[in-house]
Amino acid sequence: MIEKQSLPSAPILIESIRSIGYSFETAIADLIDNSISAKATRIDILSIPNEEPYIIIFDNGNGMNKVELEEAMRLGSKNPNEVREENDLGRFGLGLKSASLSQCRNLTVVSKKDGKLSAFSWNLDYVIERNSWSILEYSEEEIMQLENIELFKDVETGTYVLLKKFDKIQASTLEINKTITEKMSSTIDHLALVFHRYLDDGVEIYVNNRKIESIDPFLTKNKATQAKRTQEIKIGESIIKVKPYILPHYNKLSEDDLKKVGGKEDLRKNQGFYIYRNKRLIIWGTWFRLSRQDELSKLARVMVEIPNSLDDVWGIDIKKSTANIPDIIKKNLYSCIEESVFTSKEVYRYRGRKENNSEKYNYVWDRIKTRDGYEYRINRDLPQIQLLSKNFDKDVLIEFERLLKNIEKSFPTNTVYLDVADGKLKNDSEMSAEEIDELIMAFEDSLNKCQELGLNVIEFYEQIIKTEPYCNNEKLKELMKEKIKKYE
Ligand SMILES: Nc1ncnc2c1ncn2[C@@H]1O[C@H](COP(=O)(O)OP(=O)(O)O)[C@@H](O)[C@H]1O
Ligand SMILES: [Mg+2]
Repeated sequence: MIEKQSLPSAPILIESIRSIGYSFETAIADLIDNSISAKATRIDILSIPNEEPYIIIFDNGNGMNKVELEEAMRLGSKNPNEVREENDLGRFGLGLKSASLSQCRNLTVVSKKDGKLSAFSWNLDYVIERNSWSILEYSEEEIMQLENIELFKDVETGTYVLLKKFDKIQASTLEINKTITEKMSSTIDHLALVFHRYLDDGVEIYVNNRKIESIDPFLTKNKATQAKRTQEIKIGESIIKVKPYILPHYNKLSEDDLKKVGGKEDLRKNQGFYIYRNKRLIIWGTWFRLSRQDELSKLARVMVEIPNSLDDVWGIDIKKSTANIPDIIKKNLYSCIEESVFTSKEVYRYRGRKENNSEKYNYVWDRIKTRDGYEYRINRDLPQIQLLSKNFDKDVLIEFERLLKNIEKSFPTNTVYLDVADGKLKNDSEMSAEEIDELIMAFEDSLNKCQELGLNVIEFYEQIIKTEPYCNNEKLKELMKEKIKKYE
């Protein structure tokens, strides 16, 4: 056999790489990834409206010398299987080129290292003209003529990415500058969320000199947010960290916080896993079909941190916008969901219940806040229990208390949750005539007992009428009023 070279056609292949599916926001975020991987502490995005608008992403990261920059300009400059530094957000050696060229026809990169500037560019029209993978190298004088090149004055090392000729945006609008401004505005929100952990750690990103404030989807600074215990899933040498958060009920959120979590309407849509690769948010607001996105879990958000060493396992794609969750991890994640979804529901229900009462009702079950969650306990102040306590001997009381504790311990949390979620829990607000009869008989017995013990019957009545289930039933209340008359 004879070996032949089957080289791709540069203009055709580049055109298909342009359509991998980046959006404007994800493209800019991919360039920011590179700056963060290069340990930049300040990144400036300049979006300059013009007859020929341009965008610059400038960072004060490590920079590249001429040899490194030339290599970085190559499509597939790094082997995807190469082991990356722990904080490296790159993967395929493509992002710089594919993200930039998905938006524009002209990409120029200038980098400063060892006191020297070097620059190269990809120009799609030139690639077509030459029908080859040609890039252009800039001379020192040519570099000095580039837009805003004075940015380098203040840094020892750094990199400048210039995007020009936004052909795709141009084709979609009559007012390109206005459209870019709009896209940049949603990019700011995207970056504020996707890089929120870097922003909180001191990395600064500016858009036209305005600093981006981080958006923390877990509202960790809000005291009412419940952070659950971090759990670790070990896969070989690597560790995935899983930490569920339950957001406060939206009534408790300030306008600012509510906006951060997507507003009242989007609160539900944004529930689910928040998957981080290193500290960069990749995917959010999904349960990966492990659970339904419903009302019950709408306050639950689970932070999942995957190290980049697990890219293979998770199937991270070039745009870093999708990842497939493998079955081995699904099971472990599910136990976290169960817990957080359940608690989320309780925060929700609880507020609804508290709102219409406070001092007005005696509930049978008390919801008690503990160090790491909530517990349900039978209310020992219920008038019936008080009456029994006065009636029992000491050792019967001890037995009785043990029984109550036992009932509390075996509260069927999981099955109740599933039944509620399925809408199959019987609603007991409707009482049959027999049930009512029985409760009235019990009430009369209690009144007799009160009298026998020399207790205040009217006081007992006033307590019991506020107590579940009596307080929920008008018929019961009427009958009780009748019965108490003879004591007044
Ligand atoms: N802003 C930057 N600062 C320093 N080096 C960079 C920067 N952007 C890109 N590089 C270098 O270029 C290489 C190729 O970048 P890219 O095409 O985005 O692929 P990847 O990020 O997957 O490695 C990077 O690995 C890095 O070495
Ligand atoms: Mg990259």
